[in-house]
Amino acid sequence: MRIDILTPFPELIAGTFDESMIRKARDKNLVDVKFWDIREEAKDKHNTVDDYAYGGGAGMILKPEPIFRTMDKICDGSSDPRQRVLFMTPQGKQFDQALARDLSAEDHLIFICGHYRGVDERVIENLVTDEISIGDYILTGGELAAAVISDAVIRLLPGVLGNFDSAEGDSFTSGLLDHPHYTRPEVYRDYKVPDVLLTGHHANVETWRKEQSLERTRLRRPDLYKKYIQKSDDKKSQ
Ligand code: ADE
Repeated sequence: MRIDILTPFPELIAGTFDESMIRKARDKNLVDVKFWDIREEAKDKHNTVDDYAYGGGAGMILKPEPIFRTMDKICDGSSDPRQRVLFMTPQGKQFDQALARDLSAEDHLIFICGHYRGVDERVIENLVTDEISIGDYILTGGELAAAVISDAVIRLLPGVLGNFDSAEGDSFTSGLLDHPHYTRPEVYRDYKVPDVLLTGHHANVETWRKEQSLERTRLRRPDLYKKYIQKSDDKKSQ
């Protein structure tokens, strides 16, 4: 996969792509991540990327030229039909695990990070394929959203996680939240690991994990729990 990130502040997130699993994925050439500082395509002597809004009002707007010019450089004149151009905005579609899976099947993702009050609408109308939000809150810019989405997508690429089970067992993949996990020592400050996990009885462990997942989901995410139960009932009646 190729990922290009357009931003006036690459340093804000570049480090998050240099550690842990994402670093390893890059080292193994499973993903090629490139940052594009749109200021380099601002042609005036102050490298201006924003301007006042037509019609007035508070806040600055990202200008179209630096973004269009950077896109020309990335696409080298031809736009790839398998490429998705994602604009990070609280007005976008809510990001979730299903969208992460959808994006992980693409060859090329391009993130455009908004800043200030917004971006000139011609960018969205003519370059962007998807507007995406990571939640109902306002960030100072789209960079952190681009880092969150890239992280969730990259870890789903084949070969990134140690074994395929680690993605299969994720919360949301099954429709339920994950069960609790424990590791050594068996007792720490009088806090004990649940007995069932020490029995070596595989079927009982699986039953316990499923019960824990169901109960956690029922208590913490009644919306997901309802969907899960409905789906199981539908399957039974087929
Ligand atoms: N930019 C500012 N807030 C955002 C959010 N919640 N999601 C995506 N991009 C954003």
